[in-house]
Amino acid sequence: MLNQQEINYFEKVKTPFYFYDMGLLQKSLFAIKDAADLYNFHLHYAVKANANERILRTIKGFGLGADCVSGNEIQTALNNGFSPHQIVFAGVGKTDDEIELAINSNIFSINCESVQELEVINSIAKKLNKRVRIALRINPNVDALTHSKITTGLKFNKFGISLIDVKFIIENINSYENLFIEGLHFHIGSQITILDVYKKLCKVVNDTFSYFTSQGVRIKHINLGGGLGINYQNPESQIPNFLSYFEIFKDNLNVPENVDLHFEPGRSIVGQCGYLISKILYSKTEGNNNTLIIDAGFTELLRPALYDANHKIVNLSSRNKTEIYDIAGPICETSDYFGRAIELPLSKRGDLIGIYSTGAYGEVMASQYNLRSLVSKYYSDEIPLLPIAGKFLFV
Ligand code: LLP
Repeated sequence: MLNQQEINYFEKVKTPFYFYDMGLLQKSLFAIKDAADLYNFHLHYAVKANANERILRTIKGFGLGADCVSGNEIQTALNNGFSPHQIVFAGVGKTDDEIELAINSNIFSINCESVQELEVINSIAKKLNKRVRIALRINPNVDALTHSKITTGLKFNKFGISLIDVKFIIENINSYENLFIEGLHFHIGSQITILDVYKKLCKVVNDTFSYFTSQGVRIKHINLGGGLGINYQNPESQIPNFLSYFEIFKDNLNVPENVDLHFEPGRSIVGQCGYLISKILYSKTEGNNNTLIIDAGFTELLRPALYDANHKIVNLSSRNKTEIYDIAGPICETSDYFGRAIELPLSKRGDLIGIYSTGAYGEVMASQYNLRSLVSKYYSDEIPLLPIAGKFLFV
């Protein structure tokens, strides 16, 4: 949680900005590493959740690999020290250039999402005179019971290969001469809080694995994706229960010991360590309705506008008796709200507002719409050096 010393610094820094609690990031990494190591599970951090260099380097320092969905993510992971042998690459729309980069970088696995893509990777590999490790991303048709816009594992979602196409691939497996088809990949969605859905996933994984084995295809590794949710209502809970999450897979997967199991967590590692800090610019009252207009908008944090996400919003400057407010940003769009009917202390122009649990899919989804400046960022371990009016303040 934010401490008073940090809040005092925020008063002096130009808002809006992201603030990262690097100690909390480390605690989360210790927790997920310890839990995964217990079962020898392999971790690839989902770079899409937050590709900030300091965050990436910290995560790399804990020995995690990277899960990438674009050529630039692969390049960024490599530039930040991730080993190619720990990089996986998924995505329904990989371009030829991205596939070439993945092949030339000799990454651990290209996770292929369609029959046509398989043929394209095979022909690019042939051209490069290489043989490439492939995992087939299977669409398991399992409902993740999360927001529809972050559900990926249902039959009509664009992701993954259907079980019918799997049959076709197995029948033609020898025609993919430049591929090693040796892995299976599944990812059913994000911000999953009803963990029983993973039991359903395990059942499909077991059946799919048995099917490949019965057809004489040896599967060496299975990637179970990411998706573990965080507690947005109560960020104080901070570190997700990684042990009980991994236990579900340990207890429900039925594959031989020598098949490696991989995971791609994003939000559960970085979600709680980020805060979006903003200032109140104006307040408006219309009848019974009070609106606070802050200097951050959906250009800094898109999640509320795009997924109706509710982040905890705190007035960091005031502890007066409370009032009910709508919290809006400055963007010229009606969807630019962070919350409706939120109870806050009596709030006024200049008060600092903290929007919690924004470490995942916050900074990385920022834009320059309305030609705004890209959001800046600060880190808890650099606080004594926060710049103030172009100078540095030393404590
Ligand atoms: N693996 C794959 C193949 C994915 O597509 C994703 C997320 C992950 C792993 C990581 O999932 P996580 O552990 O972070 O849930 N922008 C949305 C979330 C989009 C997630 C996209 N895929 C949001 O702000 O909620």
